[in-house]
Amino acid sequence: MTGTTNFDEKINRREVPALKTHKMVLGEGGVSLFAAGVADMDFRAPPAVMAAMQERLDHGVFGYETVPDGLMPALTDWLRNRHEWSVEASHILRAPNVLNILAIAASLFTEPGDGVIVQPPVFFDFYDILNENSRRLVSNPLILRDGRYSMDFDGLEKLAADPKIKMLFLCNPHNPVGRVWSKTELQQLGDICAANNVLVVSDEIHGDITFDSRRYTPFAALGPKYAQNSITCLSPAKSFNIAACCSAFTVIIDDARRKAFQVENSRLTVNKNNAFASVAMEAAYTKCGAWLEDVLLYLEDNLSLVRTHLNAIPQVKLIEPEGTFLLWLDFRDLGFSPEELTAFLRQGAGWAVTRGQAFGVEGEGFARLNIACTRADLELAMRRLSTAVEQITPIS
Ligand SMILES: Cc1ncc(COP(=O)(O)O)c(C=O)c1O
Repeated sequence: MTGTTNFDEKINRREVPALKTHKMVLGEGGVSLFAAGVADMDFRAPPAVMAAMQERLDHGVFGYETVPDGLMPALTDWLRNRHEWSVEASHILRAPNVLNILAIAASLFTEPGDGVIVQPPVFFDFYDILNENSRRLVSNPLILRDGRYSMDFDGLEKLAADPKIKMLFLCNPHNPVGRVWSKTELQQLGDICAANNVLVVSDEIHGDITFDSRRYTPFAALGPKYAQNSITCLSPAKSFNIAACCSAFTVIIDDARRKAFQVENSRLTVNKNNAFASVAMEAAYTKCGAWLEDVLLYLEDNLSLVRTHLNAIPQVKLIEPEGTFLLWLDFRDLGFSPEELTAFLRQGAGWAVTRGQAFGVEGEGFARLNIACTRADLELAMRRLSTAVEQITPIS
């Protein structure tokens, strides 16, 4: 038992149409697989979030309503107290989810055919959003050296100089490689983008999930120059496991861009208040800081467990994460093709994880493992992996 939530409790996710355990993700005959392919947690939401939703439910009337008075202060206090970022409430706009913010930003602030830079291996939905909005995907792959990823600033500088490239999707912290970008790295990226009129859209949905008491740096908190040239996407979805409540928000400091975003939200009518999303979000940000610390400790212990197992499997390497509950595992020493690796993980290890190639060709030979599950499930999954690897090549 940790705090007020027992993270060891096994909850049957199949009682609701959870994506992670759904046939759509696991495929036919996938019920017995270790379901670790979708980026949410297997834990119950914080008790204070559930109590707030229960209270709202008990009220019983769900007619049209406006945003609760306490919500904006809840967001600004969280950003200031936890991330040392002072944001004016008037600079925040609500959105149903982060993907919606990314899509609106791309469609509003670039033209069809314009280039948008991404830094693979990176969150696969970035690709879908750009394709679906007819934007040109421009790749500036991360550099992997000695087990650690960094940004290719020379590559970025060259790409950003092209006037047809108008935007960069930043993943901060980075899904799937687990980097929590440093101030210096973000500044360097921000300087290149500002000098070349490349707007930075910073997806910071994983910002609260960092290890070893490290804090992430909100890109826009670097200073006015960076804030003006950015759109930040935020959400309590990952931190408090409330993705299905659909509650995100964006910080847009530049007045003209924020106004344009607001008009677009209104045009698309995605500016309505969802009663449950609002109360869940407010409770999370005002009452659940201690719960977040508890879950981070549990995740760190899960990470240690993976590390311990992998120490005994030299063919599989952990890319040490600084944040996010998503681990990036390097299977290249097994010598499999991407298809063989997928089959090995599914049939050999019984794992339903995300194939590395979903994050770009740079992800071939890798897979993304979600460790926000019970210790018992993770232990079993790691044992299954050890056995599967032993069966193909003896561990020395
Ligand atoms: C980096 C990143 N951005 C956005 C999302 C999805 O956010 P939302 O559900 O708010 O659209 C995810 C979910 O995995 C993610 O990892």
